[in-house]
Amino acid sequence: MINFEQVHKSFRVGAREVPALQPLDLRIDAGEVFGIIGHSGAGKSTLLRLINGLETPSGGRVVVDGQALDTLDGDGLRALRRRVGMIFQHFNLLSSKTVVDNIAFPLRLAGTPKPQALARADELLDRVGLRAHRDKYPAQLSGGQKQRVGVARALSTGPKILLCDEATSALDPQTTASVLQLLDGINRELGLTIVLITHEMDVIRRVCDRVAVLDAGHLVELGPVRQVFLHPQHPTTRRFVAESEAIDEDDQHAQYAAIPGRLLRLTFTGEGTWQPVLGRVARETGIDYTILAGRIDRIKDLPYGQLTLALTGGDVEAAQASFAAAGVEVEELRR
Ligand SMILES: Nc1ncnc2c1ncn2[C@@H]1O[C@H](COP(=O)(O)OP(=O)(O)OP(=O)(O)O)[C@@H](O)[C@H]1O
Ligand SMILES: [Mg+2]
Repeated sequence: MINFEQVHKSFRVGAREVPALQPLDLRIDAGEVFGIIGHSGAGKSTLLRLINGLETPSGGRVVVDGQALDTLDGDGLRALRRRVGMIFQHFNLLSSKTVVDNIAFPLRLAGTPKPQALARADELLDRVGLRAHRDKYPAQLSGGQKQRVGVARALSTGPKILLCDEATSALDPQTTASVLQLLDGINRELGLTIVLITHEMDVIRRVCDRVAVLDAGHLVELGPVRQVFLHPQHPTTRRFVAESEAIDEDDQHAQYAAIPGRLLRLTFTGEGTWQPVLGRVARETGIDYTILAGRIDRIKDLPYGQLTLALTGGDVEAAQASFAAAGVEVEELRR
């Protein structure tokens, strides 16, 4: 659906060229929720804006829905933008227009007659759960409601792709969850491809299928969320995951260093998460263990558990084999 071929981007600031994105290849498939995570200035917004032609690459080629963007003229670009909706951190609603008129606005711009545009806006108001707020102005809405208007407006032209630039960063955790649920529903029910950028690993964990990690303009890690989240490789990715678990990595390392025994990390996924594997293996192999860290949660629909254990006795090799036989991934953090 979206293809980046050796795309890079620099901005000219005065006499200097400031690199924002280093050459990268990236393919985003139709129907997936693709997350991009990175710190401030990593190049996330730049990457997103290359998808709808708000930025042009300094080199390489961006292909969206079969069309190379560098071949499009003004009309071509406008047509593309009707197929690529976008929502923003600060909503960008028109304060002088009511909710329904905000939603109808992109259609009116595209020349749709008012009655049809309003009918479509009313349909979308139902989808985002804002029927009761139809004739209010943005200033009369909460942040979560404003973002729902943003989503409805982005959907008005019937796009195939929805770009979300930090769409939940201005919202509290509960409202964030409800907006993410709305996006998840849109992806599942309408089959929209969603590209979502964020600096929070929890947002990625809840809704994304795959994730790319950007670090100072470099694509440093890419893969299915379950892989990247459960087994982060790059230091930047590890820090994002640790942050989402409220773990200070330095503290944790110091704490582990003070504890004797072999350290194992066990990862349970799917149905295995709910099986009493740990107790059974401990009985069978006589291992003594201390649980140092652990989390049980979900990655999108996938239940998972991850436990860090210090083993101080028993047959550790046999325990490792039993865990593996039960479908539990075992990583030895320290022998
Ligand atoms: N129009 C511009 N002119 C000059 N430099 C720019 C421009 N837009 C972005 N940059 C620079 O490019 C780099 C990447 O910016 P970008 O906005 O893509 O980062 P980001 O990951 O979205 O950050 P944030 O999380 O703060 O939104 C930054 O160093 C930024 O200063
Ligand atoms: Mg940004």
